[in-house]
Amino acid sequence: MAQEYIKPHILMMSEITADGKLTLKKGASSKILMKYMDKATEILLHKTRAEYDAIMVGSNTIKIDNSFLTVRGVEGESPIRVIPNSRADIPLDSNVLGSDAKTIIAVSAAAPKEKVDAIRAKGADVVVCGESRIDIVKLMDLLVRDYGIKSLIVEGGPTLNYYMLQEKLVDEIRLIHLPFIVGGSDTPSLVGGMHIDSEDEMFRLNLKNHYLCGTNLVTEYDVLY
Ligand SMILES: NC(=O)c1ccc[n+]([C@@H]2O[C@H](COP(=O)([O-])OP(=O)(O)OC[C@H]3O[C@@H](n4cnc5c(N)ncnc54)[C@H](OP(=O)(O)O)[C@@H]3O)[C@@H](O)[C@H]2O)c1
Repeated sequence: MAQEYIKPHILMMSEITADGKLTLKKGASSKILMKYMDKATEILLHKTRAEYDAIMVGSNTIKIDNSFLTVRGVEGESPIRVIPNSRADIPLDSNVLGSDAKTIIAVSAAAPKEKVDAIRAKGADVVVCGESRIDIVKLMDLLVRDYGIKSLIVEGGPTLNYYMLQEKLVDEIRLIHLPFIVGGSDTPSLVGGMHIDSEDEMFRLNLKNHYLCGTNLVTEYDVLY
């Protein structure tokens, strides 16, 4: 009988420009854009983090943004940080390997042992999930079964966002709209990955809420699979 996978409730949350971009240009940190978020929206972001058991971003976001992924400026505990990183090659001085919160690095079976050992020595948990690439469905199952994680926020980047939607893992999306246009055909947008061939493959959303948070428009959607 095929194994039944379970998953946490998953919210994809992101700051995006009016043209749907996540950064100024390819390779640029999203922290530059985040500086322009209204204070009230920053509080919303951190309050949301405090409500969730875990937070996940892709390894490239760690390499470019060097995110902390902690709760700051509001009451509440930081969620467990989860980073899929098949080759265990995030820099050892990454902020997520600091002691501010628990961190789980998911690697593939192909990750070099010395790199895995070095990450473990920094105090993070390392879980093996997949042969040469991370099996994101299995990772979600492992987070629930082994860590009791019932809710997870995904904060990008576009590559991870794509796989999460492709595997039908995302339940809700919350977008913080920043009143800028940055342009650039290769500038990362909300979802990367492969293009679709027909409208049958579009991810369909139901807009369930929209409001102003300070001066920023926030939209909330359910994902319809
Ligand atoms: N505005 C925002 O809210 C926001 C938020 C986050 C990021 N960003 C921006 O997004 C950009 C980075 O995005 P990105 O698309 O290049 O990278 P990303 O989505 O952050 O990371 C992708 C990497 O994660 C790893 N990964 C492992 N298993 C995976 C799986 N099953 N599915 C997906 N990924 C998996 C892969 O690397 P391995 O080879 O290590 O496995 C993959 O290359 C940066 O410029 C950052 O500033 C913006």
